[in-house]
Amino acid sequence: MAGTLRRNDARTQVRAPQRFSGTLKNTIGISPEFASGWIVNENRPLIGCDAFEYNARSVSSLSQQAETLREQLRHHEHSYYVLDAPEISDAEYDALLRKLKALEDAHPELLTPDSPTQRVGGRPREGFVKVKHSGAMLSLDNALNEKELRDFDRRVRDLLKGEEFQYVAELKLDGLSLAIHYNDGKFMQAITRGDGITGEDVTENARTIRSIPLKIDSASVEVRGEVVFARRAFDRLNEERAAAGQPVFANPRNAAAGSLRVLDPSITASRQLDFYAYFRIPELAKHSEAMKDMAGLGFKVNPTWRVCPDVEALFAFCSEWETKRDSLPYEIDGVVAKVDVIEQQQRLGWTAKAPRWAIAYKFPARQEQTVVEDIGVQVGRTGALTPVAFLKPVGVGGVTVSRATLHNEDEIERLGIRIGDTVLVERSGDVIPKVVRVVAEGRERRAFRMPKVCPVCGGEVVRAEGEAATRCINTNCPARLKESILHWSARGVMDIDGLGEALVDQLVDTGLVKNVTDLYGLKLEALVDLERMGKKSAEKLLANIDKSRRAPLPRLINGLGIPFVGERTALILAETFGDLDKIASANEEKLQKADEVGPKVAQSIRRFFDERHNRALVEQLRAEGFAFTYTITRKTGTLTGLTFVLTGTLPNLSRDDAKARIEAAGGKVTGSVSKKTHYVVAGEDAGTKLDKARELGIDVIDDARLLEMIG
Ligand code: IVH
Repeated sequence: MAGTLRRNDARTQVRAPQRFSGTLKNTIGISPEFASGWIVNENRPLIGCDAFEYNARSVSSLSQQAETLREQLRHHEHSYYVLDAPEISDAEYDALLRKLKALEDAHPELLTPDSPTQRVGGRPREGFVKVKHSGAMLSLDNALNEKELRDFDRRVRDLLKGEEFQYVAELKLDGLSLAIHYNDGKFMQAITRGDGITGEDVTENARTIRSIPLKIDSASVEVRGEVVFARRAFDRLNEERAAAGQPVFANPRNAAAGSLRVLDPSITASRQLDFYAYFRIPELAKHSEAMKDMAGLGFKVNPTWRVCPDVEALFAFCSEWETKRDSLPYEIDGVVAKVDVIEQQQRLGWTAKAPRWAIAYKFPARQEQTVVEDIGVQVGRTGALTPVAFLKPVGVGGVTVSRATLHNEDEIERLGIRIGDTVLVERSGDVIPKVVRVVAEGRERRAFRMPKVCPVCGGEVVRAEGEAATRCINTNCPARLKESILHWSARGVMDIDGLGEALVDQLVDTGLVKNVTDLYGLKLEALVDLERMGKKSAEKLLANIDKSRRAPLPRLINGLGIPFVGERTALILAETFGDLDKIASANEEKLQKADEVGPKVAQSIRRFFDERHNRALVEQLRAEGFAFTYTITRKTGTLTGLTFVLTGTLPNLSRDDAKARIEAAGGKVTGSVSKKTHYVVAGEDAGTKLDKARELGIDVIDDARLLEMIG
């Protein structure tokens, strides 16, 4: 593995990991037997909590250690952001990163521009510098239907005079294109497409995108590809922006562009942008070879690409992805077909604006016109009243759409929508449908008025100065309560199986639950009286609720639903402060000491804990036995040194539970089966990972056996 080193020193010995305590500077200890470098077990990548040791006298040893850390971080970035198969937890990754940062802070001469610490985003800039592209970054001609794709194919065949050739079909990612230059294997410069001849230098922003490698095993190369914004992250970003009174992005493409073309790179760093490579300069003999080569260099290359021997195969690819496009985490708007052999591409050449050897087959837009019959409001977890357009039901790309989010009053104003208007609605994947624009004003149109009181509890609503969101300020509002209980029970938070929307509605409506802590006092007799609740499922639910008391602090913090504090920030807070009471009592300045916590987040945390009801909630959670402290520990136990892969549905354990138990016993859980895997734990409907395990002769066990091994 790229990130591990083996010391070929006879005195090599394995040392028990030590807890890293205090600051790096005051824990540097020199042990002569380790003076020649890192001791890293080949099978165990160095992780966050291993002892940080170095020979302070030897500068070369220090720079070697920094490089080892950088290598390890690069390896884990690649596993996580490119391969989607993390090998270590976020906490372990963050601990590694902090370790490197501390080393670089203490010894600035060790800092290199390709260091993973440089991804956090440097200082804002005055403006973007215009840069000429190495070669024109032209666009593609479009084929809008089957006939136009056949016309393209005929042109290619004619120009190649009946010679054999094949296509490569790829998804047309809906983002913005970027050219990245590497010199001597080092990330040097990133330029947006601009007008195709000249683009903007967005190097510092692109550096923050984790799927762009900062160092590659190749001399000088230019890689072009698409920067995209995942749909989920897009929805979340827009929700946050709407709640904070900022203008929302119209679509993931605009969000990607808006996030890359900002002067402050730390904004880019805070957005979940991704980069997919699809073009390499210099070219290789075939485009398909370039795709493999770029993947080998560590770029994310969309794995769906396929060699198509003829136009029929191209059609099959297009219709397959037109149907499956919703299953992708990001937006696509068509398929790109390229002649594979570069020499043939060169003979086909270019027109003034596009290559003759490629075409973009565009999927039909998923937009339809319909009438806004009414505008209502929905009350969210933070109390924000979100206007929702109730539409005359219309089929958009095979799905009936009857609602669309309007985000806030400012957005309604921007779109100029009135009830009765005919609007264009657009659906993309599982993104909430949205109104694109007004197509025709209604003959009788009526303006939307934000209600003066909360439509759910009748309580006071407030639109604070400078904010676009109107909020219900009653912390006991049932709508807020329902949303916050659903958030509490969600996956990745308390993970309470069986506590879904229908049940939460009943629990709140019957008054059984007035606060999340009431969940912990629920009785079997009360539950079985509810609709669709048998004794067995009630017992299971109570067991699941009870189990959630063991959730570690990051999940508890996430569960509190503090505005702007999601999973990642919750983890950072838990790791930085190690104690909920310390977070609750920290002032804004202190809170900002935590990575990625800026003034806005710090203010939100402070406001949350200053609120009387929230403090009471925290005390109730303490009384329910929740853990308020957190330490990152790498345990040694019965599974130390063993690597596991989980696949299928395990009958006795949830995935997260199995992972937590393996890690607690010193084992490691990775996402993909390789020769380094010791055991595959398989449950029902296990898929390709099981096949791979059999192919590699890896032991396959069930979760009962796993529990036995853990002891
Ligand atoms: S190839 C000369 N491949 O679509 C060929 N482009 O409409 C360069 N795009 O500007 C482009 N996915 O931003 C290519 N797999 C893909 C693509 C792709 C998305 C974008 C790209 C380009 C635009 C053309």
